[in-house]
Amino acid sequence: MAEFFRITGGRRLSGRAEMPAAKNAVLPILAACLLTDDAVALDNCPLLEDIENMRRILEKLGCRTERAGRRLTVRAAGAASHEMPDALSKTLRSSIFMMGPLLGRFRRATVTYPGGCEIGLRPIDLHLKGLRALGVDIREAHGRIECDGSHMRAADVLLDFPSVGATENIMMAAVLTPGETVIRNAAREPEIADLQGFVNAMGGRVSGAGSGIIRVRGVDSLHGAAYRPIPDRITAGTLLCAAAVTGGEIALSGACGDCMDAVLVKLREAGCAVEESEAGVSLSSPGHLKPVDVFTQPYPGFPTDMQAQMMALCCLANGTSILVENVFENRFNHAAQLVRMGADITIHHRTAVVRGGRLTGARVQAKDLRAGAALVLAALAADGVTEVEQVHLIDRGYEKLEETLTALGASARRLN
Ligand code: EPZ
Repeated sequence: MAEFFRITGGRRLSGRAEMPAAKNAVLPILAACLLTDDAVALDNCPLLEDIENMRRILEKLGCRTERAGRRLTVRAAGAASHEMPDALSKTLRSSIFMMGPLLGRFRRATVTYPGGCEIGLRPIDLHLKGLRALGVDIREAHGRIECDGSHMRAADVLLDFPSVGATENIMMAAVLTPGETVIRNAAREPEIADLQGFVNAMGGRVSGAGSGIIRVRGVDSLHGAAYRPIPDRITAGTLLCAAAVTGGEIALSGACGDCMDAVLVKLREAGCAVEESEAGVSLSSPGHLKPVDVFTQPYPGFPTDMQAQMMALCCLANGTSILVENVFENRFNHAAQLVRMGADITIHHRTAVVRGGRLTGARVQAKDLRAGAALVLAALAADGVTEVEQVHLIDRGYEKLEETLTALGASARRLN
């Protein structure tokens, strides 16, 4: 019997939480460890399924990794294979950005076509087009992608869409490639700037991350580094929503308010008081919430990874909200589960119309990571008991979420 959360709604959250390093910063940074033989130390890394899977992939390639609490050390000196292990690649979609570092280290890479996932096809055409622009010869056959980078050269690459993963792959492939590579229409997410910071801490020469144009001046080699990735802005946004929907208050120490502007603006529009300081971000909720309209976009627009959580909040607001999901083609899996809890949601293509009201506890299923988080938020405010199944999907991106919420006053337990 798989694990599930049992949550009794109606408890007001109050207290503080420490922000862990961002999952979506740690994953590409772990991949980039392949670019040096020296030891790398990463701090504040939460114990997440996706991070542990990335460690397993690195070890399969011949790296040594260790975890001591939230401190990870990686040593790629023993990495001898440029072939990604099939089984593990399927469990971790984001392993596709191993191509860049494998090409950087071996001038070769063999990866399997990553499965799509619950939120869409997740094509990799932009990754392949970018790497081909760098002179990589890519053959696709039988679900495998063979990359030959023996003739790689710096290039000026224009991305058709500011893909986070494609930007990361091209940056990591270019770091050890002689000459200056330019990536235009690059993704501007804070995790991209963090990857730049990490690569430069290893002796790389990357600039422009955060703007739409990234410049990578190739260097001969990289050395080890000790690095603390940025805090997780999506975990932070999720916990702020938890306080918002329960009429509570919360202080998130270590959260980066500057990376969350679009989310903080919407929480203020919903009626919450939100303060940002050096120490982090805090929120207090009036209890009754106003409806808000959400339009997801690449950074700095409203993040798609917070759309599900905001839909849960809108289900509890006094009025009608409109949410448009512009980034992924199938990211409303949480809607049907919220309807089981009494939500009034109408979906039309990429638009959801939510008429807020009360929710009642029910047995629901997480369909993907953020959909699961949305159901937990709904459960915190629903009348009665909710059981959220498939919590392993939630564990991919949240470290012991039920314990964090219980420490804030919620009634949330993990049962088998
Ligand atoms: C990263 O995924 C994140 N994952 C996702 O977070 C996040 O939702 C996404 O960026 C957008 O912010 C990690 O960083 C590990 P994209 P990624 O390439 O890189 C299309 C979470 O919940 N596209 O920016 O895969 C794609 O289909 C996860 O933590 C192409 O068409 O996102 C999507 O519609 C979910 N061709 C859009 O671009 C390509 O070659 C955005 O994808 C690549 C992407």
